[in-house]
Amino acid sequence: MPAPRVELRAVSKTYDNGGQPVPVLHCIDLELMPATVTALVGRSGCGKTTLLNLAGAMDFPSSGEVRIDGRSTSALGERELTALRRNYIGFVFQFFQLLPTLSVLENVELPLLLARVPKARDAARERLRWVGLEEKASSLPYQLSGGQLQRVAIARALVHSPGVVIADEPTGNLDTASGEQVLALLKECATRLGAAVLMATHSAEAAAIAGVRVHLRDGRVAAIEQE
Ligand SMILES: Nc1ncnc2c1ncn2[C@@H]1O[C@H](COP(=O)(O)OP(=O)(O)OP(=O)(O)O)[C@@H](O)[C@H]1O
Ligand SMILES: [Mg+2]
Repeated sequence: MPAPRVELRAVSKTYDNGGQPVPVLHCIDLELMPATVTALVGRSGCGKTTLLNLAGAMDFPSSGEVRIDGRSTSALGERELTALRRNYIGFVFQFFQLLPTLSVLENVELPLLLARVPKARDAARERLRWVGLEEKASSLPYQLSGGQLQRVAIARALVHSPGVVIADEPTGNLDTASGEQVLALLKECATRLGAAVLMATHSAEAAAIAGVRVHLRDGRVAAIEQE
């Protein structure tokens, strides 16, 4: 068995809402395996984005432990956390989150520039080719369709070959055909690039491409379906 890329052990999360505790996740145990798409499903407010933020080291559990690449996120300093997020994790969001004044190619290149990786431009071009958008390299984001923007966002998330890809409602803002293209790319992130992909989704079509489906209900794992 390969090692899990991300492990959640007895993870609970309680937000503080002006002194009022808001418990959101309760005693979650979950492993994200390489070369696997894991879908996180459940109704609005059940805690999907909260769990994604913990699994991507953007936030920390109130109790329990999140281990990424074997290291507990709560034990890492700011510098190590920044390096972990930049080198090991790729993020894809519902509203793409591209920078509007940078070209498509510059958006994809940016994570590598921040991480001071050499040959950033070549790697960015290669990823753009991979998502089928090399001819849009010098376009600005506003000149692209929603589906194209999300493919650029996937190229950006993958440009540093992350071990883990975290996608929050990646098809939530797309028509069916664009959504299918994006799902096929996320599946390829797992099958061809070996990433552990964690995707929160309301869409049955999106959940259907996953090898593992985790059903969250009121902040607890209600069921796990595995293929
Ligand atoms: N920073 C925060 N402070 C306080 N409460 C929060 C915070 N973030 C989320 N919550 C609350 O935690 C609960 C879970 O939110 P979360 O965003 O994880 O749900 P979700 O499953 O992603 O929902 P959706 O499907 O609508 O995106 C909600 O009740 C929300 O109001
Ligand atoms: Mg959410």
